[in-house]
Amino acid sequence: MFPSHRPRRLRKTEIIRRMVRETSLSPDDFIYPLFVTFGKKVRKEIKSMPGCFQESVDMIVRHAREVYSLGIPSVLLFGIPEQKDEIGSGAYDPHGVVQKAIREIKNKVPELYVITDVCMCEYTSHGHCGIIESGDVKNDATLELLAKEAVSHAKAGADMVAPSDMMDGRVGAIRAALDGEGFSETPIMSYAAKYASAFYGPFREAAESTPQFGDRRSYQMDPANRREALREVALDIDEGADIVMVKPAMTYLDVISDVRENFALPVAAYNVSGEYSVIKAAAKLGWIDETRAMLEVLTSIKRAGADIILTYFAKEAAKALNK
Ligand code: PBG
Repeated sequence: MFPSHRPRRLRKTEIIRRMVRETSLSPDDFIYPLFVTFGKKVRKEIKSMPGCFQESVDMIVRHAREVYSLGIPSVLLFGIPEQKDEIGSGAYDPHGVVQKAIREIKNKVPELYVITDVCMCEYTSHGHCGIIESGDVKNDATLELLAKEAVSHAKAGADMVAPSDMMDGRVGAIRAALDGEGFSETPIMSYAAKYASAFYGPFREAAESTPQFGDRRSYQMDPANRREALREVALDIDEGADIVMVKPAMTYLDVISDVRENFALPVAAYNVSGEYSVIKAAAKLGWIDETRAMLEVLTSIKRAGADIILTYFAKEAAKALNK
């Protein structure tokens, strides 16, 4: 007997596939991460992340202009300071690399929406995301520094701050500090469900933030936990987060989907460095079609429920989509 159901009818040509497509990507979905370093005319490619660079402020501004011209609305800034110390002073220095970059970008490309990563690990000599006391990352003492860092970014002109440290209570502490300094309109995108992932490997080369001892498992989440993500997200929303993020993306699509189902806030997902590098590496070996793999990954993240995707592929994806 002939089957009466033939789903293939709607897959016959590109035009009908387009008409029934459930998920579509746009450059509007992307945030492009940038790495700001000290010096002048510096543009150093990150070995494990081909196509990504550490750049000095002058070069970042040019790059920011290119990003905006591709239709990508926003960048996320990470800083690599000239000097690191125990308490990460570079993080809240009014003349720090990120603060300078914010001012320059807002001056030269004012429409571009500038978000800053708020964390200590790029600024501390030990590479941990907070203050160390007797070999442990101290939660409450770290909150004050994170709040100072967020306020200093806002003062420099950041449009939004994004805490990525995973200390308990940091969204509330940052919200209170911003409000106290007159920045009640600056939103917070919290890295709410951030897992202790092997896929951050290449980023640590990019940001020079590898922990000098131990690892981040006492503050970042255990990859095996799904329900706990809902708890983390609920806490951050309660403390005042405006956008909640799941990170990494590819290996946590179930978590993205759960967060989308359970909360009404915009959901962001971070397609992290290792997710980028594995595709780049396989493509270089000729083992995978890079553009198709990239678009498939980004589509899957959107399909899972993300409204916003932070990705090192943003420029290449925007070019592919603008074609
Ligand atoms: C800082 C931070 C990290 C990433 C974003 N913010 C690294 C980490 O937690 O070790 C990872 C980004 C990436 O891998 O692309 N805490």
